[in-house]
Amino acid sequence: MNKKVTARAHTNIALIKYWGKKNPELIIPTTSSLSLTLDQFYTDTAVVFNSNLSHDELTLNGQPITDHTLLKTSTFLDIVRQMAGINTFARIESTNHVPTAAGLASSASGFAALAAASSKAAGLNLDRQALSRLARRGSGSASRSIFGGFAEWIAGEDDLTSYAHPIQENVTMDIQMLTVVLDGSVKKIGSRQGMQHAIATSPFYDTWVAESEVDLVTMKQAIANNDFQTLGELAEHNALQMHSLNFTAKPAFTYFNGDTLNILNLVQNLRHQGIQAYATMDAGPNVKIISQSTATQVICEAIKKDFPNATVEVAKPGPGISYL
Ligand code: PMV
Repeated sequence: MNKKVTARAHTNIALIKYWGKKNPELIIPTTSSLSLTLDQFYTDTAVVFNSNLSHDELTLNGQPITDHTLLKTSTFLDIVRQMAGINTFARIESTNHVPTAAGLASSASGFAALAAASSKAAGLNLDRQALSRLARRGSGSASRSIFGGFAEWIAGEDDLTSYAHPIQENVTMDIQMLTVVLDGSVKKIGSRQGMQHAIATSPFYDTWVAESEVDLVTMKQAIANNDFQTLGELAEHNALQMHSLNFTAKPAFTYFNGDTLNILNLVQNLRHQGIQAYATMDAGPNVKIISQSTATQVICEAIKKDFPNATVEVAKPGPGISYL
C-alpha cells in the first residue's frame, strides 16, 4: 500500500467482434470474440492508494478529470478495493499514447492498464486470467488487452468463466492494421448504448450470435494455418455483420459516415487489383485496413490519391500487459 504502480497496456482491434451483453452489470457478452493487440497505441497508468485522500483523483494526459470518466474510474476502483479489503482512495495518472483522433477506442488499453496498476497497488497479486476478468468489468474489450497478439475473450456464463486468453502471443503471420484517420470527432453513440439497442431491437440479433460462433471457429483455424486471406475475408465479413445489426435496429443507427463507405469502396477496388486488403470498423467512422507489410506502400498511395487529407497510422501486432 501507498506504493505507486505503473502499468502499460496496448489497444486491440477485434477480428471477431463483441457486440452485446447478456449480463450488462458484470459485462458478460452474448458471444465470444477475438482480437489482435497492436504495438503502436497504448495507455500508461500509474495508481497509488493514499489514506490522506478524501476521494479518487484522476488526471488524463496531465489534465485533471472530474466528469463521468472519474465516476467510471471510481466505480471500477470500488471493485478493486472490495477485492483487496481496503477503503482507501487513489490517485490515478493516465497517459494515452493513441494518436489524437485516431478513432481508436482508448477504453480497451485504458481499463487493462488500470486493472493491472490498481490491483497491484492495492496489494493484490492477480494472474493474467484474473486480471482479464477484472479489466472486463471496466470495458469488455479491455479483457483482451491483457494479452499480446491474437487473444480470444471466452464469453462464459458469469464473472468466473468470462475472460480472455492468448491464442498466439508471438504472431507468426505477416499482418498489420492501417488506421485511416479522416474524422476526428467524438463518437455520438457509445458502444455500451449501441450494442444493447441492437440486441433489443434488431431482428437479426439471434442470427448474429449463431454466425459469430461459426466465424470464431474458422478464424482460429485461419490463425493456426497462417492463412491471411481467410482471416482478412472473415474479419471484414464479421465487422459488416455487426454493423448490419445497427442498420436494422429500431430506430436504426450507424457509426458510418460517407468516408467510411468511400474507404470500404477503396478497399474493395484494391482487392479487384489483386491486393490483399480487408476492412474492419468499430464504434466510430474510421476504417482499419487489415493488410500485409508487402502491400503497405501501394495501399497508402491509393489512400493519398483519393483522400489527400487522410493520415494513415501503421500498427503491427503488439505485446500484452507490462509493469514499468
Ligand atoms: O469494450 P467496449 O464497450 O468499448 O466495446 C467494444 C466494441 C467493439 O469495439 C465495436 C468491438 C470489439 O469487440 O472490440
